[in-house]
Amino acid sequence: MENPSLLSLTVALLGFLSPCLTKLTPRVSFPMGTPGRLLTRFSSHDVGNTTTLLLSEDGDMLYVGARDAVLALDVSYKDAIILRSKLDWSPSEKDIEQCSMKGKKMIDCSNFIRVLQFLNTTHIYACGTFAFSPRCTYINSETLTMRLKADEGRGRCPYDPYQRNTAIIVDGELYTGTVADYRGNRPVISRHLSEGRRVDLKLDDTLGWLEDPTFIRSSFIPDEEKIYFFFSEVGREYDFIDKFIVSRVSQICMSDVGGQRTLQRRWTTFAKAQLLCQADNELPYNVIQDIDTLPPAEGAPADDTLFYGIFTSQWSVNSGRSAVCSFRLTDIKSVFSGNYKVLNRDTLQWSTRVQEKVTNPGECGLHNASDNALRFVKENFLADDSVRPVGRSLTMLSAEHNYSHLTVQRVLAANNRDYTVLFLLTESGYLHKAVLLQSGAHIIEEVQVFEQPQPVKSLKLSIPKGMIYVGTSEGVVSVPTANCSFYWTCPQCVLARDPFCGWDPASRACVEASNTHAGLCQDIDRGNVEEACNTVSFTHRARFGPNKLPAGELVSVSLNEVVQLQCPAASQLSQQLWERPNSRLSSDLYLHLEDGSLSFVASPATLGYYLCLSTENGYQQTMAIFHVKQKSSTMTQIPTRYTWPEAHHIPTTNSVARPWPGLHTSLGTWPKTTETRLGETEATLSNRDTQVTTRQRGRNVTLWTEESGQKEAEFRDGEPLLSARARCYLKELVVVSVLLVLCLSLLITMFLYVIRQRCRSRTAPQAVTPTRESDRRTPVEQEALKGNRFLSKRNEQASGLVCNGALTGSNGHLPNTPI
Ligand SMILES: *[C@@H]1O[C@H](CO)[C@@H](O)[C@H](O)[C@H]1NC(C)=O
Ligand SMILES: *[C@@H]1O[C@H](CO)[C@@H](O)[C@H](O)[C@H]1NC(C)=O
Ligand SMILES: *[C@@H]1O[C@H](CO)[C@@H](O)[C@H](O)[C@H]1NC(C)=O
Ligand SMILES: *[C@@H]1O[C@H](CO)[C@@H](O)[C@H](O)[C@H]1NC(C)=O
Ligand SMILES: *[C@@H]1O[C@H](CO)[C@@H](O)[C@H](O)[C@H]1NC(C)=O
Ligand SMILES: *[C@@H]1O[C@H](CO)[C@@H](O)[C@H](O)[C@H]1NC(C)=O
Repeated sequence: MENPSLLSLTVALLGFLSPCLTKLTPRVSFPMGTPGRLLTRFSSHDVGNTTTLLLSEDGDMLYVGARDAVLALDVSYKDAIILRSKLDWSPSEKDIEQCSMKGKKMIDCSNFIRVLQFLNTTHIYACGTFAFSPRCTYINSETLTMRLKADEGRGRCPYDPYQRNTAIIVDGELYTGTVADYRGNRPVISRHLSEGRRVDLKLDDTLGWLEDPTFIRSSFIPDEEKIYFFFSEVGREYDFIDKFIVSRVSQICMSDVGGQRTLQRRWTTFAKAQLLCQADNELPYNVIQDIDTLPPAEGAPADDTLFYGIFTSQWSVNSGRSAVCSFRLTDIKSVFSGNYKVLNRDTLQWSTRVQEKVTNPGECGLHNASDNALRFVKENFLADDSVRPVGRSLTMLSAEHNYSHLTVQRVLAANNRDYTVLFLLTESGYLHKAVLLQSGAHIIEEVQVFEQPQPVKSLKLSIPKGMIYVGTSEGVVSVPTANCSFYWTCPQCVLARDPFCGWDPASRACVEASNTHAGLCQDIDRGNVEEACNTVSFTHRARFGPNKLPAGELVSVSLNEVVQLQCPAASQLSQQLWERPNSRLSSDLYLHLEDGSLSFVASPATLGYYLCLSTENGYQQTMAIFHVKQKSSTMTQIPTRYTWPEAHHIPTTNSVARPWPGLHTSLGTWPKTTETRLGETEATLSNRDTQVTTRQRGRNVTLWTEESGQKEAEFRDGEPLLSARARCYLKELVVVSVLLVLCLSLLITMFLYVIRQRCRSRTAPQAVTPTRESDRRTPVEQEALKGNRFLSKRNEQASGLVCNGALTGSNGHLPNTPI
């Protein structure tokens, strides 16, 4: 037993690490219905649970396995999904009755299609849960008609629609990972539809080759003639922790035909190994959620095949977070060709006792090996070593997003280099597009694809069509992998750092890089606008040089009015900044609001030009220019003026921008007493009721906004945006502003101090006192921490970590040697 105080120290230390993660904010966000990212949807009232997707080779047809139906959707048009045919395949009344008599819910007694694979050029093989009595059938892919007699689906498809399974057809044979019984406790990896001398094979289940697995995916690697299965299961080798989940990769050879006496009709080539997705000194992200295969680049060996997986953690400290790890095929192969753990047949305990190696487990072509060799294979199927991620670190870690599905694509950029782009689906219905850079992942954009969080869904990438298809419980949504025309200036196009898009100086447009190769401006790695677009950030002098006063948007105000100038954000990663020619924006007079807008009281000192600048990645661009002028008495109806009959009632709804956030309660009712104290402005006030000056922001305004579909949409709708408001409380304003600024500075100082202390505490862990973090952990987690041997490494390792979440190097890991 290790020293408990050391344990709490480590736990406290881990707790402190968490807030220092980099936040991965998508650069641009497209909520549902935004014009910049138009989605095409297919839905029909009688189609639901579209959880299995299959694309034809040319990408023109999308076959969908839904509830009680298989659909053929024509996706050859860019902006429409057309239903070509629908095959109804539902259980009979009698089947449903029997199913519900066994205590299952009526809705779960439908036929959920869970296997949909091309068998040959003319037929699809499909299996469904069929009222908890799985069936399979052959479907003509042209006419979408099925053979009358259905096959028994046991071992090919789960009984329970909530159980995950995996299936793949290679050379006319079906390889599956699923449970093979009604209760769901007989997991099996098996082969079906074998013909001639080849026989159907399955796992030997006498020794527990699988332990309560959740199947995720399977992948066929042609050069290896092997199928790899990915799943999570209970890690029996960690018997010191109750129900510790591990992620696994397992392999079988396609040439396998089973043993002759030993392992008859059983795999002789099955082997499994742990997939470890873990960063230094962190708990492992042990539960695999999804994984996709990235084939090697053209001309590269098959060993360079990569697998990108999403992993979450079993431990509550990491709940809601997800990590992406990548694994190289060559690493998987070398783990399988190494040593294997030994199972004690009596105690069912694992050990690494050195044993004479009779043969190499996992090797193809063992079918007519000796009984002795096959017995050895039968008992040695768990590789001793774990497969570690590429670079021995996480590819990406998201603290805010719970990713459930992913797909990966290699994209050739304008510089003729390949970039890896991940499409990640969040639990809450957003599709994130991330490019993997040397410096870490950069989330180019997020697109909302569905509104309600959903339990089962699927994701399919069509590289020929440049589309992602998402199967949801309502139907199918297609999302283009990119919309370059959304970026309509060179800086925006470059700042996006989207390998799909580059700026074409000839056509002065952001275009798809795959269509135009020569001379595109793009800088994926650094996003350096000045170099890529050959422009310079505006400097102060350049902006206000002699005779260079910009023609800004005119804002007419009366003296003592409160003016609020809006500034659209270039992206979620940009920072807004206000400037005036030749004068500083002192905090006595100006209030910078949270949404980036600027507020001040119109006075002779504050009339003039205002520029809103946006800084992103070192590049500054002008987002808006305003010319604030005193209203002349002859000015007519522009800007429009609304007069509220009751001076003391200021609406505080969202359609009216609030002058100062946080102070709206005091503004909600306008205190009469304040007026009397404002001697010098009283006259003005009593002459007028509360005035709100609004301007219609037409499309022309977007000349400076350069960005963001959302903002554009707002302006186009012609929704009046409040820009100025009459008020006469200069002194109060100044006092309140100063107080607010003071409070904010105090808060920020305190916050910075706390952060600094926390980060420092990692270099001096002995100063850290155990926090309540340790109380929140369950005993199981504490065990896991011990099991991870964090303790032995705590001091030396702790100082090596960086606050910005650069997760490099890894030697804190789960022990491969069971205790
Ligand atoms: C791409 O963006 C442009 C500009 O915002 C928009 O007009 C167009 O509809 C978008 N196209 C798609 C397919 O989203
Ligand atoms: C495809 O498989 C089906 C079912 O076994 C068979 O009827 C059909 O003839 C096959 N088609 C071809 C082109 O081999
Ligand atoms: C089918 O979809 C409905 C929502 O439409 C969902 O509540 C249900 O859980 C889904 N069933 C399965 C088996 O995924
Ligand atoms: C994250 O997603 C996984 C898989 O979809 C789910 O099991 C888990 O409950 C989710 N966690 C949170 C905190 O939403
Ligand atoms: C091994 O099996 C193959 C067929 O798979 C057979 O041709 C060969 O003769 C067998 N070798 C031995 C030594 O039995
Ligand atoms: C706005 O743009 C239109 C053309 O799109 C132009 O005719 C009109 O004069 C512009 N208005 C202003 C105020 O610049």
